[in-house]
Amino acid sequence: MTLTQEQKQFVEDLLGRMTLEEKIGQMNQESPSIVGGFDVPFSELIEMLTDGRISQEEFGRIMASAKQDLHEDDIRAGRVGSMMVNDPRQNNTLQKIAMEESRLGIPLIIGFDVIHGFRSVFPIAIAEACSFDDDLFESTAHMAAVESRAHGINWNFAPMIDAARDSRWGRVSEGPGEDPLLGSRFARAKIRGLQNDHSSPLNYVAACTKHFVAYGACESGRDYNTTSMSVSQLYNVYLPAFRAAMEEGAATVMAAFNDLNGVPCTVNRHLLRDILKGEFGLEGFVVSDANAIRECVSHGIAEDERDAGVQAALAGMDMDMGTHIYLEHLKAEAEKGTVPMEVIDEAVRRILSVKVWLGLFEDPFVPEELIAAYEKGLPEAHVGLCRRAANESMVLLKNDNHLLPLSRGQKISLVGNLADNPDEVCGAWAMAWKREDCVSVRAGLEAAGAQVSYYPCGGPEGEIDLEEADRACENADVIVAVVGETDAMSGEASSRTDTTLPGRQRELLERLLRSGKPVVAVLMNGRPLALGWEAEHVPAILEAWHLGIRMGDAVAAALLGDVNPSGKLSSSFPYVTGQCPLYYNHPSTGRPGSKSKFTSRYLDAPWDALYPFGHGLSYTSFAYDDMQVHKIGQCLEFTVRIRNTGERAGTEIAQLYMQDVSASLVRPVRELKDYRRVELKPGEEKKITFVLPLDALGFYDNEGKYRLEDGLFRFTIGPSSREGLSKELRLTF
Ligand code: NOJ
Repeated sequence: MTLTQEQKQFVEDLLGRMTLEEKIGQMNQESPSIVGGFDVPFSELIEMLTDGRISQEEFGRIMASAKQDLHEDDIRAGRVGSMMVNDPRQNNTLQKIAMEESRLGIPLIIGFDVIHGFRSVFPIAIAEACSFDDDLFESTAHMAAVESRAHGINWNFAPMIDAARDSRWGRVSEGPGEDPLLGSRFARAKIRGLQNDHSSPLNYVAACTKHFVAYGACESGRDYNTTSMSVSQLYNVYLPAFRAAMEEGAATVMAAFNDLNGVPCTVNRHLLRDILKGEFGLEGFVVSDANAIRECVSHGIAEDERDAGVQAALAGMDMDMGTHIYLEHLKAEAEKGTVPMEVIDEAVRRILSVKVWLGLFEDPFVPEELIAAYEKGLPEAHVGLCRRAANESMVLLKNDNHLLPLSRGQKISLVGNLADNPDEVCGAWAMAWKREDCVSVRAGLEAAGAQVSYYPCGGPEGEIDLEEADRACENADVIVAVVGETDAMSGEASSRTDTTLPGRQRELLERLLRSGKPVVAVLMNGRPLALGWEAEHVPAILEAWHLGIRMGDAVAAALLGDVNPSGKLSSSFPYVTGQCPLYYNHPSTGRPGSKSKFTSRYLDAPWDALYPFGHGLSYTSFAYDDMQVHKIGQCLEFTVRIRNTGERAGTEIAQLYMQDVSASLVRPVRELKDYRRVELKPGEEKKITFVLPLDALGFYDNEGKYRLEDGLFRFTIGPSSREGLSKELRLTF
């Protein structure tokens, strides 16, 4: 995000004409308040939903009939800088009020949670990351930008780039998984896709990278819980994706809910001022997470709301999401001098700069023709991208005796409530999908011409019908069981202590397997599940996640062999939940896990992953050979030959790992350094090259300093974080 000299001058001139109240107004974000239409207070309604007194559907109905306050008067009075609304006509109305009826005519920045697509819902991020396809990451982000801008949204609360290594945490679904390099490439591509197409102001939005920082490290995987870690871990694991996003010019950042080493991120001056705005050079602004300034009182770091507001402003928190604390307290504090005017001016300068960069002062409106065009339905190109993303995100975990792909001649019994529910395909944080666009697995198989009979038999919630399961087995050549989690079982506030298949789904699988017929499990879920039992008993497992609106098309294409699965896991899968947190790039221990007693292991479960990061099978097979490495100038050049040794065309994702064999700090057993998608026809071979700059081989120490240390390095190129060809090299820098 760069501004011209003229744009910077415009911001300064405007700032010079603003009253203190107007400045504080810019630092305030509102969302529509629910003011009535139901008989109980809104907080009570949420509790009723949470404890099951009302269903999701009833809640939706109540909300649809509720009256909303869109804060028109506050906008008119210059008390609102940002809104959160996804209705294009409402947004036009609010922008008109801001532009024409407020004293200075400052447009609103309109934010919304567009995490994995808008109306075109793509796979959840943990799934999309399995494609290891930077071009896809960028394309889906760009389409999300275009669709949201067509709805008056010019600021996406995305990408979510929290490294996450504990699958008990429900929000693992929203981010690109456990690896800092994959997370950084994902972050860069998302920023490019959201922000870089300025061919029309309707083609880009401001990104909001979140959640800064270490939210994914919440203790015991419980959402909003405390985090603590060493500086080197913060710099090597949790900060890289944010650094990358800032280098790519991300316009804004959302601070995380959690405290880090005792200081909530919301009021953490070191994180916001020294690292984010100083070291990383954020040009735009920082917004709090919802209600987070107020939560500093519950954290016990502020005595009251006023104190929380002062601390947040001083720490560099530019915009308050949803508490009104800035609105209520900053004026008096600025007049007293507790919050210096420079702090307020800096925040407002940053906010106005993003608005200028977005072109909002020229035209913040959505043309009526564009609104009407989207009302007609999704363009085919959008649907096509949803299909491509879904195809590339599936991971074939297991395929004994080539059970998959199935043939169109086979009689398939399709089992599981999830298989026939178009409302479940999008996953957590999908807010703008329409049912008419969503394809369930059942609909996908039927449309693809499979011979399929459907038997619900139950799902993640509620009872299962074992007699129906027996009937499903009677008439089948093969059984496809769609099992997993509902979309509400992952995402925010959806941590689980038991990450096995919820409900009685394992029992259902057991019953199906008892028939002796071949069983394929299609997993539909938002987190790495603990699959020890399934891996032992079910012959074929396809990880399909929540793949977005075209889920059914993609799963059908994979099951029937029209698409050859190519995804590789962006997160490690455990045998049992007790292994969490689990990740491939863990620091070396003095006693690496082995079969012998006094090593880093468990008595009752394996010490390593069931399916490690980078794992994923194909309907064909690939062989790696002839790995070479040469130092050329300030780079290492790696080459390797990959051959398709099977009978189908396929895409292999080749992965380059490094181990710093001995260093001044304990380093990971393996670290991903690069990856490449390689398409190969049957029998075809390709020589691929990775070029790694020498300065990519370092790490951050406990002062946050980057170190390149001479010594021995081990490099591995292969199909996963567990296998491959290796070479060692002694390097001096
Ligand atoms: C809370 C979530 O943590 C954040 O990711 C989201 O963007 C905001 N609420 C706004 O909905």
